[in-house]
Amino acid sequence: MTTMIGKSVNRVDGPLKVSGQATYAYEYWDSDVGQPLYGFIVGATIGKGRIARIDTTRAERAAGVRLVMTHLNAPAQGIPTPNPSIPLPYWVAKPELSSPDIHHYGEPVALVVATTFEQARAASSLVDVEYAAEPGHYDFAARQGQAYAPKTLVLGIATDTAVGDFDSAFAGAEVKVDQRYTTPYEFSQPMEPNACLAVPHGEREELTAYVSTQIVAAARARIANTLRMDPRRIHVVAPYIGGGFGSKLAVHAETILAMLAARQLKQPVKVAMTRQQIFQLVGMRTASSQRVRLGAERDGRLVALAHEATMYTNPRQEWSEPMAAFLRSLYAAPNRLTRHRLVPLDLQGNEDIRAPGEAPGMLALESAMDELAHALAMDPVEVRIQNEPTRDPERDVPSSDRRLVECMREGARRFGWERRPARPASVRDGRWLIGYGMAAASRGHPQAPTRARVRMDPDGNAVVQSDMTDIGTGTYTILTQVAADALGLPIDRVRVELGRSEFPASWGSGGSWGAANSSNAVRRACEALREKLQTADGRIPAEGLEAEGEIVGAADDPNFKNYSMSSYGAHFAEVGVDVDTGEIRLRRMLGVFAAGRILNQKTARSQLIGGMTWGVGAALHEEAVIDTRSGAFVNRDLAGYVVPVHGDIPEIDAIVLDGFDDKANALGAKGIGELSICGSGAAVANAVFNATGMRVRDFPITLDKVLPGLPPQDG
Ligand code: MOS
Repeated sequence: MTTMIGKSVNRVDGPLKVSGQATYAYEYWDSDVGQPLYGFIVGATIGKGRIARIDTTRAERAAGVRLVMTHLNAPAQGIPTPNPSIPLPYWVAKPELSSPDIHHYGEPVALVVATTFEQARAASSLVDVEYAAEPGHYDFAARQGQAYAPKTLVLGIATDTAVGDFDSAFAGAEVKVDQRYTTPYEFSQPMEPNACLAVPHGEREELTAYVSTQIVAAARARIANTLRMDPRRIHVVAPYIGGGFGSKLAVHAETILAMLAARQLKQPVKVAMTRQQIFQLVGMRTASSQRVRLGAERDGRLVALAHEATMYTNPRQEWSEPMAAFLRSLYAAPNRLTRHRLVPLDLQGNEDIRAPGEAPGMLALESAMDELAHALAMDPVEVRIQNEPTRDPERDVPSSDRRLVECMREGARRFGWERRPARPASVRDGRWLIGYGMAAASRGHPQAPTRARVRMDPDGNAVVQSDMTDIGTGTYTILTQVAADALGLPIDRVRVELGRSEFPASWGSGGSWGAANSSNAVRRACEALREKLQTADGRIPAEGLEAEGEIVGAADDPNFKNYSMSSYGAHFAEVGVDVDTGEIRLRRMLGVFAAGRILNQKTARSQLIGGMTWGVGAALHEEAVIDTRSGAFVNRDLAGYVVPVHGDIPEIDAIVLDGFDDKANALGAKGIGELSICGSGAAVANAVFNATGMRVRDFPITLDKVLPGLPPQDG
């Protein structure tokens, strides 16, 4: 039997989704859970200060209102206590309405619960709040002088590294780039908003959260820690998720408030954030200011390499994005340094957004590499090949499966890179200036403890269970393929059940760890089941035969110590820039990627194209703008917060090289969810430079920034 793994199997959950039968958190209705009540969040209209007086009388008297919860009547809750065994903040308590203090704009000051959504929303406008505002700090650019060095970054990553003597090597370098790049605040903004339906089971003193979350175990832990309940009395149901991109790694105010209200009212309560609320209640990607210094010999070899990233943090919840950390493994140079600094601001806590670290970090670094190629008058691909390390440059260990050069060469060949305009602003197509750009992609390969269970029933059908989530990526499908392959069954004899806290725990979907973690745990479970079947001479008892599989976290896997493991890729982009208006249009784009073994060619390609598109957005469109007087995001909806739409993305393709990383895991697979975001924007930015000769270092590259640098026109 030929292997199922890698085949372009259609999504096994596709028919349910296109026929509206896949139920999302907010959609459960009374036949499932009983008639729910509706909660609406009231947010603070100041950025810092306190509630001087809050009057809920009018709201409480409004039609249909059952409860108005404020800091005056909210129950005592757990406080955030870091858990050293889980070096990410998503598991810790997140108390709401716990004091009159306001720490950021939009922070919940009340939850109004009513019989209908309309009643709750209408009554929310009747909550009367008087604030004592205090001056806050909201201006990232103006507060650069306050930057400080944190002890570690998220996941315990070192904040600073230094090898050799950067300063003197850079001073003596023949060719230098020393530039600063800025990136804006960005939001995940999946189609499905953050939402929770909280259902109490009074007789059992238990609660179920139907919730849109990427990590079921984290949701359960955060709810239990906040409500001060035994986690075994909290149940989480999250079988279908309408996108996450980091914004649902944690549950936020919607879940905590729904659960508090449901417990108190002994009735189901639904809370969803409005699109505007998501911009104030869910963490965003920090804005950044990144200085990159590259010092090279005339042949393109780097002698000195420095990447220093400054970002904001909420002082109450220190959180950092490892923007320069990828560089520690990417290019060779004997003298090097990386640094991360944090500027405290009175904004909501920042969180992981789509390839945290590499996405903004490679935008800066891969732009700088293009500047170096230009300064050297070398091909950008060749400059990168010149700096390909033989071992991990800072850890001095071999790489497991490093295929960056192969991706660049294959991409250059397929894209027709040799037709790249040799001089910037030298090629026209009618009114369009034409430019080509490329950039490298790399993304770490994380691994986290994951368990899965498989049961075979007497009819020979298998059921796989894990609290793993499918956030739209295709998890149901790849796990079906992996189990079918390991058990020697056709895929229609395997059913995968995900997203329930009663199932064996995983780290869910995030950080590009989901597919490799859960597929390997499922494979192990299937192997264990096969052994049990053998022992039982193939006889399956009436209750079925069951086995579990588990993989350990990176810290307990020696391959992560002995090898440098990443996935790689190369992006190639062609843009046209209107010679009069500066309008930038992507004309075509190609990505070539290597991420070990691919579990499903079709879902992988969809992931990769989606990621490349996010990168185009980072280069040209996305920017959440702060009102620096109040700390409010002014363009807080999808009309004002611009992301690429179909009209912005013409011909685009993603190709994956066949592979198998035997150090990564038994399936040879690495994550691809975020790889293609990394470097994608830089390829577009570099194409804009090639088209115009204008280098914009302040992202996104909007036409007003390009216009002053366009070549003068005749007549
Ligand atoms: Mo990802 S930003 O870790 O969901």
